Amino acid sequence: MQNIKDEIIKSVKILKNSKATTAFTGAGISVESGIPTFRGKDGLWSKYDPKILDINYFHKYPKDSWKVIKEIFYDFFGKATYNKAHEVLALMEQNNLINNVITQNIDNLHQEAGSKIVHEFHGNSKNLICTKCGKSYNISEVNLSSLPPKCNECNGLLKPDFIFFGEGIPKKAYSASLEASEKSKVFLVIGTTGEIMPACQIPYLAKQNGAIIIEINPEESNFTNRITDVFLKGKASEIMKIIEKELFKNK
Ligand code: APR
Repeated sequence: MQNIKDEIIKSVKILKNSKATTAFTGAGISVESGIPTFRGKDGLWSKYDPKILDINYFHKYPKDSWKVIKEIFYDFFGKATYNKAHEVLALMEQNNLINNVITQNIDNLHQEAGSKIVHEFHGNSKNLICTKCGKSYNISEVNLSSLPPKCNECNGLLKPDFIFFGEGIPKKAYSASLEASEKSKVFLVIGTTGEIMPACQIPYLAKQNGAIIIEINPEESNFTNRITDVFLKGKASEIMKIIEKELFKNK
């Protein structure tokens, strides 16, 4: 345990001295909120076929696709609340120790924990959009008891406002993430396998631009032996709790 403590103290020094820090998060940061990962043991893709998130399948079989989408992202995920790791990132932003969060997650937990500058690389499940007229809805306005949900303006098919396989990355989030990869001196990478393109390119670009990479994950990822400078092996909320203590102990 001492070794990881030393590594955390080293990370805290780096974070404190950084003029520009970005947190880059994946499904792992929400595991302790009860949201399963996509890959690995008990991952969502070991239970569900990823084709339900293929955009062509969705348009061809909207009812079948929506049945599974509702089960995963609204019945199950919908009740999740943010955990200590999300909270500490928000606290770090309030204390100017983090400039922004780039997340691959669609669960809105960073915002609910208080993070203000969040670039959602894959969108957000709390919003729905009409595939015909483009009208957007908050999930609280939509009745999911009859599927697929339709637009109350044009009767078009509603789709969760997160990207499906085969769709492009939201332009604003993409350009903001590229900018962060150019300007950040430190990237705090939390809970991601680093397998999904183009999201996984962002930490690589940051590294190429001279950023120090600090990674938190109980397992090694695609980043660990390639670009990670400090690997904090452990669960996000546990590690972030110690980081919080070390960061603010003299406050
Ligand atoms: N704390 C931190 N990390 C954790 C924890 C935890 N408690 N538990 C698991 N992890 C790590 C796993 O070791 C793994 O590296 O979280 C990571 C989850 O990996 P994925 O399921 O592949 O999630 P992610 O990398 O975010 O996937 C990227 O793939 O399917 C698409 O759009 C989906 O955004 C997702 C993208």
